[in-house]
Parts: sequence; C-alpha cells; structure tokens
Amino acid sequence: MRKEYLMTPGPTPVPSEVLLAQAKPMIHHRAPIYTEIILEVLDDLKYVFQTKNDIIMFASSGTGGMESAVVNLFSPGDKVLVASTGNFGERWVKISGAYGLDVVKLDYEWGEKANPQDIADALAKDQDIKGVLTTHSETSTGVTNDIKTIGKIVAGYKAVLVVDAISGLGACELKTDEWKCDVVISGSQKALMTPPGLAFTSVSDKAWAVVEKSTLPKFYFDYKTSRDALHKDQPQSPFTPAVSTIVGLGEALKLIKKETLEKVLERHAVLAKACRAGVHALGLELFGASDEMANSVTAIKAPEGIDGQAVVKTLRVKYGITIAGGQGRIKGKIFRIGHCGYYDKFDIVSVMAGLEMALKDLGYPVEMGAAVGAAAEVLYEGISVLS
Ligand SMILES: Cc1ncc(COP(=O)(O)O)c(C=O)c1O
Repeated sequence: MRKEYLMTPGPTPVPSEVLLAQAKPMIHHRAPIYTEIILEVLDDLKYVFQTKNDIIMFASSGTGGMESAVVNLFSPGDKVLVASTGNFGERWVKISGAYGLDVVKLDYEWGEKANPQDIADALAKDQDIKGVLTTHSETSTGVTNDIKTIGKIVAGYKAVLVVDAISGLGACELKTDEWKCDVVISGSQKALMTPPGLAFTSVSDKAWAVVEKSTLPKFYFDYKTSRDALHKDQPQSPFTPAVSTIVGLGEALKLIKKETLEKVLERHAVLAKACRAGVHALGLELFGASDEMANSVTAIKAPEGIDGQAVVKTLRVKYGITIAGGQGRIKGKIFRIGHCGYYDKFDIVSVMAGLEMALKDLGYPVEMGAAVGAAAEVLYEGISVLS
C-alpha cells in the first residue's frame, strides 16, 4: 500500500466536502439556483479578499486572471512598473510585453523582496506610469512582498496597484481595501482548496475608472461584460461558467468561513514556522528573504553537492510525497514545500520525516527525527490555532 502526499504550492489537496459538492448533478447556469450559488460564492470571496469591491471570476488558470488585468487596465504603449522578485514577477513582464506595454522593470535578485522605496522613487520620477504590477507571495522563491507598504505608496499616484496574490491569498495576510490594492488576482487551486480552473480578480473604484479608458483588445476577459452580467436583475456569468468547480469552491469558502479567516491565516503561520524550524534543524538554509510573512511555501537551498531536483524526485518516487523544485534560473538549486490550503500539523510532520529519509538517501548527514522534533515543538506551541 502506498499513500500519496501532495505538498506543492498548487495544486493543493482538496477537502472531501469540496470533492463531494463537485460530484453533485449538473445545474444550468441560467437557472435561479446558479444565481443563488454565484452570489454566495462572490460574497464569500469578498470575505477572503477583505474587500467590498466587485469580484470578477473567469474559467481560467491564475495566469488568465493576470492577463485579464493587463487587457482591462491598459492601452497599447502605456507605461507600467513591474516589481519583479521571481518567476511570477517575470510573468507580469511577459504578459505586459505581449500586449505592447512599455515595461519599466525593478529587477530583484530571486530570493529578495521588492523594496517599496524603489517603487516610491520610480513613481516620483515618472508621472507617466499607469500601473504598478507585483506579486504578493512569490511562489518561485518563497518570499512574500510587503504589499501593505507598496499600497500606501501607490495610492498617492494615479497609477493602479495590481497584485498577483495567486498563491498568497488565504495563506498570507492581504487586506485588499485597507492596503489600497486596486486589482488583486487569485486562483482556485492554492489556499482556496479547490481544483484548478478558476481565476478571481477584485477591482477597486480607482481601477474601474482606468478600465473605462483601456483600449487593449478583449472579449472573454472583458471586466465590463462580467460586471454587467452580475448587475442584472438575475445576476449571471456572461458565458458558461465552470459550474462544478464553482459549486466546489462554495464549499471550500464555507470551510474557510467556519474556521474564520483570522484562524486560517494563523494556522498557515504556525505550519510555515514549523516547516522553517524543521529545515533549520537539519542544518539546511532557507532560500532568500523568507520570514514570518512567507506562509504559503517554504523554499529551501539544496545542500552543497546535492541537486534540488534529486530531493524532489526521491521524495516523490520513493516516499510518495510530491513537493516542488526550483523554477527557471534556480532550478536544481532549491526545493519547495507547499503548505497553502488544506494542511494541518501532521502534514508538516510527514513531510519533515520524508525529507529526512530522502536526504539520507542522497548522502546528506541526517540525524533522524531532528526535523520532525523541531517542527513538532512549534506545532505543539501553536496547538490552539491548529485544533
Ligand atoms: C504567484 C503565482 N502567480 C501566478 C501563477 C500562475 O498561475 P496558473 O498556473 O494558475 O496560471 C502561480 C502559479 O503557480 C503563482 O504561484
């Protein structure tokens, strides 16, 4: 018998309540029952986004949500500032480039955080910047950016702040309205504990005013089409929505509300802290500026002489634990343990035990139980938020 463990920063395990809800008989998306469901789901998403803004949903992966922000906010040749801290910051550069935007890039070493002061300086120097595009939890490096401070800065300018919170929302604190985030994008398959296939974007009043002026081509991703359909007498999705995934998401959001967002975030903080403690106990180093904000994913430097991909492969093939490797320029140099979403204390204990075994297989000196013990200490301390 072999049990599989999914510990990647997306897709993530899906609770049985969500799976069962998705297996219900199909309903029609123009029927009143769908309206009831979508309105409740959008309301519950607002709770997780901590926003009163409209939320627009698409049947797409998170990248579709990012692309939707670019095509709805900007016009050809518009200048945007991308604060790029890793692979997903680069995605903003690529999407903006594909649509002919003039991209000014703040390029950070992978593993570093974006420095809000650099954004302040860039905006002060160039009043033509129409948008600041950045990443909340940079999944490729395990670093979480200081969106709160960035939001305060951007709010003083005409530029809109666009935040990719695809792996961060629901795992690391993000107060959309209070932090003045104009467009926040997330997806179903990470902390929201639902299969892949849905992208959500919250759109502020400041952003809607900008949407009015945008001339980039769009059709399926047009925010106004989605908003108008939602504001009809019988609110709807303009096109056939991913009905079963939305029904599943509804259950996931109920679970989050039952636990409360506050507790959900605290749980993620304890799990991430336990993971970091376990890693340190093995004498390993975290990659980059991971700190108490980095609660979605833990990125770990592969030890000297051991390929990060070999750690990933050994864990998967021999021990049935799927974690993630490094991406792009840091492939082989790191490995990443995801803990955003449906995870609890014993998931961390399991992955630590597996990591000890896999590293030992690869010739790294391991004192068996060191990582498990260190993680368990933290989990025990935080038990009140975990149970
Ligand atoms: C921070 C971040 N941005 C963007 C994406 C891309 O999302 P998707 O693969 O759903 O298109 C991911 C997925 O890993 C992510 O973690």
